[in-house]
Amino acid sequence: MSIEINAKKMNSKKNINKVLVFAFLLGTFALVSSCDYDRRTTGWEYFDDMAHSTAYESYTTNPNFADGKTMQPPVVGTIPRGIVPYAYEKTDKDRTLAAVTLVNELDVNKENLQRGEKMYGVYCLQCHGEKGDGQGALYVNKKYPYPPASLLSDKMLPASDGDMYHVITVGHGIMAEHGSMIKSEDRWKITMYIKEELQK
Ligand code: HEC
Repeated sequence: MSIEINAKKMNSKKNINKVLVFAFLLGTFALVSSCDYDRRTTGWEYFDDMAHSTAYESYTTNPNFADGKTMQPPVVGTIPRGIVPYAYEKTDKDRTLAAVTLVNELDVNKENLQRGEKMYGVYCLQCHGEKGDGQGALYVNKKYPYPPASLLSDKMLPASDGDMYHVITVGHGIMAEHGSMIKSEDRWKITMYIKEELQK
């Protein structure tokens, strides 16, 4: 009786060993066969739908759209979140209109002035100068040939906040628009800095 049990025990031990050897071989095979030999192939793909999306990729062609592109432009008239469309054009008439309509609603405080100064330093100083007199480094060093207007002129000193904001937004004469580069709040802070610090 006891001999039989021992024989059974030994048999099951042998079976376990076989399973372990089989699992080891299977594991080694899986490991070796999925190796990337030359960095040009992906090796075996067990779940190829995980590597190759069945969805269209953004920059691929697409037969479902008239223009053949997967990534479609936004619908005409779409307004990005947080962006308020600007109602005035780069014309003298609209500048006059913007000057009397637009009002800076931000509080004049140290934080806003500091931000305005910083943004002026990034976007305006190189042309209009540290003092706002139009003697910026680009002009003084003859890298920019056209004289930047003085922001301290008899015309600009009494100009309204809205006037300044409008020029920053759409540009003036040969000065480029900055509306697409500087967010609205910062355009008002630059205006505040010019009015409160440079023009005083
Ligand atoms: C690349 C140089 C350059 C940069 C940068 C620049 N400007 Fe100008 N700006 C000019 C020039 C040049 C003029 C004059 C344009 C003309 O008369 O055709 C001008 C005109 C203006 C005027 C109109 C002045 C007037 O008498 O009507 C204002 C206001 C003004 N700039 C403010 C700014 C502010 C604020 C910034 C920064 C956000 C800025 N500019 C950035 C070159 C620049």
